[in-house]
Amino acid sequence: MIVPIEGFSKLTKEEKIDWVVEQYTQDSKSAKALLKRYLNADSTVQKLHDEFIENTITNYYLPLGIAPNFLINDKLYAIPMAIEESSVVAAASKASKFWLKRGGFKTTIIGTEKIGQVHFIYKGGFKKLNSFFKTIKPKLFSETTAITSNMKKRGGGISDIKLIDKTAKLDHYYQLHCSFETKDAMGANFINTCLEQFATTLKAEALLYTPFEEHEKNIEIVMSILSNYVPNCLVRAEVSCPIAELSPDINKANAFATKMVQAVQIAKIEPYRAVTHNKGIMNGIDAVILATGNDFRAVEAGVHAYASRNGSYASLTDAAINNGVFKFWIQLPLALGTVGGLTSLHPLVKLALEILQKPSAKELMQIVAVAGLAQNFAALRSLVTTGIQKGHMKMHLLNILNQLGATQEEKNTLTHHFKNNAATHNAVVQAFNNLRKQ
Ligand code: HMG
Repeated sequence: MIVPIEGFSKLTKEEKIDWVVEQYTQDSKSAKALLKRYLNADSTVQKLHDEFIENTITNYYLPLGIAPNFLINDKLYAIPMAIEESSVVAAASKASKFWLKRGGFKTTIIGTEKIGQVHFIYKGGFKKLNSFFKTIKPKLFSETTAITSNMKKRGGGISDIKLIDKTAKLDHYYQLHCSFETKDAMGANFINTCLEQFATTLKAEALLYTPFEEHEKNIEIVMSILSNYVPNCLVRAEVSCPIAELSPDINKANAFATKMVQAVQIAKIEPYRAVTHNKGIMNGIDAVILATGNDFRAVEAGVHAYASRNGSYASLTDAAINNGVFKFWIQLPLALGTVGGLTSLHPLVKLALEILQKPSAKELMQIVAVAGLAQNFAALRSLVTTGIQKGHMKMHLLNILNQLGATQEEKNTLTHHFKNNAATHNAVVQAFNNLRKQ
């Protein structure tokens, strides 16, 4: 019978492993051996991983791939991607190779503003609260001087603090809506520390504010936290070329450009399609975010909120044909860091950033946006021409053969066979069985 456990966090790693395999696995000996096989032989590396999270019992590996030949603003990058899904890295690589010969990717940073909020309850009138806020605003800044001094030296800090009345949506609910510039840091810790200080100052000053009546003095802080919705921390990436350069056959080039625009238009008005369309974009984005030690959950949440900003979930990319030129672009919010957090702790993250030529946070935003655009281009290109399965299954072939337990010799034979044959799951199983019979 499975029973709850008290004090699991206090057990040693060995004891945690013993407990979980004995309680929850059928073959505890094999489960334990598996968990141990995935531990790193280098104890320093293992200790580092053990301490990233809590209750670590082993490591969970993802492959790290490279998509080369990305020409971004005339600079050549090889992009590291950490992802488990076959065909993503190949698709990014194919798109980069395609655009390398057509001028590459052009990117622009539209803004770098980060947001945080103090959510609080005040049981009085807005006018009086606003006068109070104006009085204490300089103090909100001055009482964070110690926290902000290093960030200020780097050119960042608190940009503004606004009082927002949200009582139309929730009784007595107000916010301090704060904006920050965090330069090369993602800034979560910096922002949250500032916000908690704002909350302390707000509450303490309210108690001393004589125009407040007794019941108004008690401001209740609900919470102080950054927002992962950063619509003004925005980047744009674009590719374009004359339609004639899309294919040696002008009819095919015209048809391709038209279908690409139609595919994007569908994703702009049809949420069922938009979700899959954007999922393809996130294949590229998440893979680079993970490889560079950034927070993909924060990026995902913010990006999808942005995709819904006009009231309906829609495509993050756009496409147009103007005067015989095909243009394809993406605009999305990305709050990223190239210093702090995992970026200075995880050895592979450090290496990924070195491969990217030690980018600033702004440069990383541009690289990540390009990875998303390239991924969408490759996916749409397949979808509107051959269909997705041809290329995807070609890349997925090794996964199926591994599932079937194929030997290296069988893999070589069948990979060769499927160069000229459609690699559906059934076809692969059948070819494998035929080969074994031989
Ligand atoms: P292909 O034309 O068969 O490739 O494309 P190729 O053999 O002619 O090679 C051309 C280039 O592609 C290579 O150049 C590589 O850059 C790359 P080279 O290195 O030879 O100079 N490439 C590879 N890179 C690394 N390893 C490989 C490899 N093969 C080609 N093994 C390809 C094959 C899969 C690239 C193409 O069919 C493609 O881009 N398909 C799209 C795949 C895709 O989008 N996958 C994502 C998963 S599907 C999904 O989740 C998203 C989706 O639902 C989103 C949506 O609906 O919008 C589709």
